[in-house]
Amino acid sequence: WWKNLMAIDKKFIDQFINVTSRAAYASSFFIGKKDKIAADKAAVDSMRSELNKINMTGEVVIGEGSLDEAPMLYTGEILGTKNGPDFDIAVDPVEGTNFVANNLPGGIAVLAIGEKGNLFNAPETYMNKIATGKIDKNLIDLDYPLEKNIRNLSEFKNKDISSLTVCLLDRPRHKKIIDKLKDLDVKTKLITDGDVLGALYVSDPKYNVDMFIGIGGGPEGVIAACALDSYDCHFQGRFIFNKEKDINDAKSMGITDLNKKYEINEIVKGDSLFCASGITSSDVLKGIVIEGDKFISETLVTHKNNNFKEIVKSINSINEWFLFLGKFGHNKKLIKI
Ligand code: FBP
Repeated sequence: WWKNLMAIDKKFIDQFINVTSRAAYASSFFIGKKDKIAADKAAVDSMRSELNKINMTGEVVIGEGSLDEAPMLYTGEILGTKNGPDFDIAVDPVEGTNFVANNLPGGIAVLAIGEKGNLFNAPETYMNKIATGKIDKNLIDLDYPLEKNIRNLSEFKNKDISSLTVCLLDRPRHKKIIDKLKDLDVKTKLITDGDVLGALYVSDPKYNVDMFIGIGGGPEGVIAACALDSYDCHFQGRFIFNKEKDINDAKSMGITDLNKKYEINEIVKGDSLFCASGITSSDVLKGIVIEGDKFISETLVTHKNNNFKEIVKSINSINEWFLFLGKFGHNKKLIKI
């Protein structure tokens, strides 16, 4: 029973902010360079090496793919010094690779941490998602017709339907939804990529998004759910398995009901920590700014048990110099300056 009382120590917050900040910085060299693979690789390399410095045994449950697809941050990789608590780690080193490659707003470096066994091990498939701010139970549901969800939300928020805004990815697969929203006179906010930020818009009225819906990446759904859980938001998701390989992968991951609708606390259980650092600026986070031998990053941090939800600005030294004191051997001391 005592295990349930354990949470992620808040001393880790700064360390994970450092991980996403440095990944964002590494990727920032590829802003506007039309090379999304290089932008991603820089963040992956940085994230992996920084995560390896942390005193934890962290297992990647959502990463860059399986071992045969990705040499680094692959699903199942164990990271950290192995001298500390057991964590589940979900990473999206660059969320919005097109944004970074094309110098557009919204590129972020993201990770989410859960206690071991508490983060959903998401298959690399699409997920149908719905998210809103805090609502009453059964008010909004992935399985209700769109119109019912809109009318319920309008009533609950005491806002006219015509002043509600729904955010979704601008994709041909969403044509029916977009047409229906237009018929209902709802405002749409169409995003070209980046549905982690898209879903996060519902967390704060300042972003002016009442609902996020539609089909995007499953791993992105799990990562967004971590942050939304800290904000007490509503989120549901259903994976879409329509290829033979996806069905087999899901079965090998132990998913028996392929049509299951997941509630937020089935996706992320217990305590969780989420960090997203801006690479290119957006209406949520400023991108990386370099000033002399320092770089400035902005990170959205949520830590559930600690009820911590902040945008943290950090000033980081570009070069990490190490001063070796004493002899090498068991007297070795490392001081970071
Ligand atoms: P990448 O940064 O990995 O390119 O993903 C961007 C993204 O827009 C995600 O935010 C979203 O979940 C997914 O791609 C949508 O996939 P698709 O472009 O196939 O519709």
